Order: sequence, then C-alpha cells, then structure tokens
Amino acid sequence: MIRFLSACLLISFAATAWSQDQLDKSKKGVAVAKKGTPKVDAKIDEIWKTCPKYLVNQPIADLLEIDSKDMATATVRLLWDDRYLYALWVVKDAELSADAGDDWAQDSVELFLDQQQDKSTSYENDDAQYRVNFEGKISGQGTGYDEADIKAATKKNKKGYLVEMAIRTHAADNKTGTVMGIEFQVNDDHGSAQRDAIAKWFHTEDDSWQDTSTFGTLELK
Ligand code: BGC
Repeated sequence: MIRFLSACLLISFAATAWSQDQLDKSKKGVAVAKKGTPKVDAKIDEIWKTCPKYLVNQPIADLLEIDSKDMATATVRLLWDDRYLYALWVVKDAELSADAGDDWAQDSVELFLDQQQDKSTSYENDDAQYRVNFEGKISGQGTGYDEADIKAATKKNKKGYLVEMAIRTHAADNKTGTVMGIEFQVNDDHGSAQRDAIAKWFHTEDDSWQDTSTFGTLELK
C-alpha cells in the first residue's frame, strides 16, 4: 500500500513538473494542448505558464542561407476550448523585417493544421496554413483557409517578438482526446529582403504548405 501511494505521489510530482512552463520532449512529433481560453492580446496570461512548450528550431538544410545559430527559432504553447485552438509563440529573432514581397519570406510564424488528421497529400477542406508576421499581418493558404477563422496579436520585444493566435476549428470536434495533424514553422529574413532560414518543429522539409501527411500530432487534453 505504502509503495503504491509513494508511486502515485512520484507520478503526480512528475506530471506537475512536466506541465510547469517547460520544454516538452516527451514524444517526438506529438504536441499537447491543455483546455483553457486565453485573452488574445500578445500578453502571457498565467494559464500559458502551465503549458508545455514545443521548440521550433530545426532548419530546412537546403534552404539555409545563414549560419543555423543565427536563424530565428521559437517556442510554441497550445490551448483549446470548444471553438478555438490557441497558440502562443515566443520567437527569437535578432533582426526583424517585413521587406520581402512574399508573406512567407517575411519574419513570420506559420501554423499548419489538418483538423481531421486524415493526412492527405494535398490540402482538403479541413486543412489550412495560418501565417502571422511580426507586425501582426495575417495571411494564409490552403483549401480550408478562411481569413475569418484566425485572430492574432503580436508584440515586439528585445529578443524578437511574440505572437498569440486563435484559430476557429470548424472541421474538428474539440473535446478531450481529439487529435489533429499539426506543424509549426518560423520564417526568417535576416536582412536580405528574402527568406534566409526556415525553422520547423517536426518535418524538416518545405512541403507542409502542400502535403499534410508528414505533420506531427496535436492532442487535446
Ligand atoms: C513555404 C513556402 C510556400 C508558402 C506557400 C510556406 O510555408 O515555406 O515555400 O511558398 O508556404 O504558402
């Protein structure tokens, strides 16, 4: 009995430690969102501090124009409620620029979502790419993309910028246990008025905007 109780205590300690605002490395390619509704204002509400962070720091090697240690990277935390998926990005980016002509080449973050997780190799109605640049400009692509589905707020800071997004998930049934396909990307213009680096969370190729089959998994907890 005592052994059982101490084992339970250990497990609950471990679970608390894991959920307290730290980098989650528990399962590669699996991101967990906790239930909760933050205010989308680019401020880090208390609830965010209880969420695991996922690191977006893997370069796409053949598109890298700068030293990988200089490229912009981010941590992402996730929350969900009945209608929305929320993401809080803390981006490290030494030089901010929106000079590039293409939205995807400006300093920006992208969230790719396959709401039904049917892993189609082209985008369907439940698939979309949501992008927000450091100045708060929203753009996106994909069969399931509708600009009305995304709200975002951004804020610059000394090390880069922060993006908070809310995405309306029409094609998913948001409840505990729901899974979706997901990928995260940071686009970096390091001063060339072009994209100099791309950092990704899971799949290190530049194909997430076309193919959902290589996304990681999002679990609503
Ligand atoms: C990719 C670009 C692509 C764009 C299209 C970005 O995620 O990195 O290469 O052209 O999506 O939306």
